[in-house]
Amino acid sequence: MNGLAFGETEGVDEDSLARLVDRFYAAVRADALIGPVFNDAIDDWPYHLDKLTAFWSSLMLTTGRYKGTPMAAHFKHRARITPAMFDRWLVLWRAATEAEMPPAAARSMQAKAERIAENFKLALARLPAGI
Ligand code: HEM
Repeated sequence: MNGLAFGETEGVDEDSLARLVDRFYAAVRADALIGPVFNDAIDDWPYHLDKLTAFWSSLMLTTGRYKGTPMAAHFKHRARITPAMFDRWLVLWRAATEAEMPPAAARSMQAKAERIAENFKLALARLPAGI
């Protein structure tokens, strides 16, 4: 057992994660509120999509494929990231997970993203201006 409840990983594999990540970032890039932050920050989209597939592979399949520091990646862009952006990010994530994943996996991925988004939001809000 990997600590995940039964059903949460049904339908989740590297291919479905890559499709999910593609769909999600296509929606992100087209979004008027959060699209510009990503489009300005990311030059190499195939690399970003691979990295995010590895991130979700680590979270859902415990593969350890992702090696990185997400908090630091977001701190770099803190001047542009507002609390409302997290709500929009989660709306798009909900739509993409529902379209690409079986219901149990979609719910699990939504819950994980909500927790991470909350942590990012609190951490960014606590940072004094100028740091
Ligand atoms: C307001 C919402 C968000 C915005 C605007 C945002 C923006 C960004 C941007 C611009 C990058 C690229 C950083 C760079 O390479 O310079 C990035 C990377 C990343 N984001 Fe987000 N993000 C948001 C929420 C989230 C959430 C909720 C998660 C996880 C559930 C997440 C996971 C990641 C990961 C894993 C990376 C790659 C970090 C690395 O380089 O290793 N992001 N994000």
